[in-house]
Amino acid sequence: MSENDKSVVRGLRDVAAAETKLSYVDPNGALYYLGYNIDDLVGRVIYAEIAYLLIHKKLPNQQELDELSSQLIVEMNLPDPIILSIKNSPKNCHPIDILRTEVSHLGEYDPDIGDFSKAANYRRATRLVAQVPAIVAAINRVRQNKPVLAPRSEFGFAKNFLYMFKGDVPDDTEASVIHRFMTLHADHGFNASTFAARVTASTNSDIYSAVTSAIGTLKGPLHGGASEKVMDMLDDIDLEKDINEYIQGLLDEKKKIMGFGHRMYKAQDPRTKHLRGIVEEFLHRERSLTLYNRCIQIENAVFEKKKIYPNVDFYAAVTMDALGVTKEFFPLFFASSRISGWVAHVIEQYEDAVLLRPSSEYVGEFGKEFIPIAER
Ligand code: CMC
Repeated sequence: MSENDKSVVRGLRDVAAAETKLSYVDPNGALYYLGYNIDDLVGRVIYAEIAYLLIHKKLPNQQELDELSSQLIVEMNLPDPIILSIKNSPKNCHPIDILRTEVSHLGEYDPDIGDFSKAANYRRATRLVAQVPAIVAAINRVRQNKPVLAPRSEFGFAKNFLYMFKGDVPDDTEASVIHRFMTLHADHGFNASTFAARVTASTNSDIYSAVTSAIGTLKGPLHGGASEKVMDMLDDIDLEKDINEYIQGLLDEKKKIMGFGHRMYKAQDPRTKHLRGIVEEFLHRERSLTLYNRCIQIENAVFEKKKIYPNVDFYAAVTMDALGVTKEFFPLFFASSRISGWVAHVIEQYEDAVLLRPSSEYVGEFGKEFIPIAER
């Protein structure tokens, strides 16, 4: 069949672009990492175990986990030029633009430069799992005119991320929540950012380029940018507003309700119940309680009117708010967790060794007469 004979699958809906062993998104409402149902993992693993599982395709034993955790903490110390560049970035740009730039920038300081062996790619993958959250933490500190913090050896990796981001030592609840949050966001089949990373990797380009593509893709409000928009909506609904009317108004204007709907799930997103449960742990706090009550009302109103469920981004927004993360950093927390999935997919794509290059259906014209510029 020639390129012109192909019919278009709009949005690549239901097209399997490659095989993967990393995660399975069950449309009936389940998610598996390497065969493990996330319901059996969340709260029973630390996030570093999930990063190991995705990158090495098996759960680590204690020694392997300890080694990885120590390595991640060491790698959270960023090269000086990256910190300087964060300090020099414009104060008014979105922080995800800085993250995207600095991941690309990291490629210039790759200690394995020129080495494309499997071992070097595993080292790069592990470094990126540590460096993306470290960059996110540094951006926040610089924006707050506070010193960039070094990781502390007595904390685990995920707890260090929250500590380096906020500057306060996370309490036990916060530390437990960040592990669960990062576990829930670690991978999700061929979502748009992962697919973008795999397309870049499929040209045998380097892992930094692939992750840069992924971050640019995650940024969009139909993907990882949704949680920030969820918080815009929650901020916009003050107590005076009738939530039913507010939602109906958005639907009447044919606007999407942020944090709802999913390309893959025909049932509830399996991550939602975990995130809603996390928010429920913070209901003793007035702000979390207020936001939670709004969320429940929105969830009911949207289901009643459109029969669609919240996706991962809906309660993730209130979870991050409870952790003290400001909304413009929400997509960066998503990236800080999804990085383990991205690098695992890049490695899997290198192993598959096939160029991802779809065809297109040309719907333009043929045989047009060329007119020289002077006559146009
Ligand atoms: N609000 C209102 N209606 C919706 C929504 C929504 N959030 N999501 C889907 N629908 C409706 C849509 O209007 C359409 O209805 P109809 O058949 O009457 O025209 C139907 O549901 C199918 O929607 P679709 O747009 O064809 O679905 P899609 O698979 O192309 O899009 C989506 C999936 C996630 C882009 C979409 O649901 C959406 O825009 N949601 C809001 C943004 C969001 O929350 N994104 C985060 C996605 S999950 C995490 C992640 O990947 O980052």
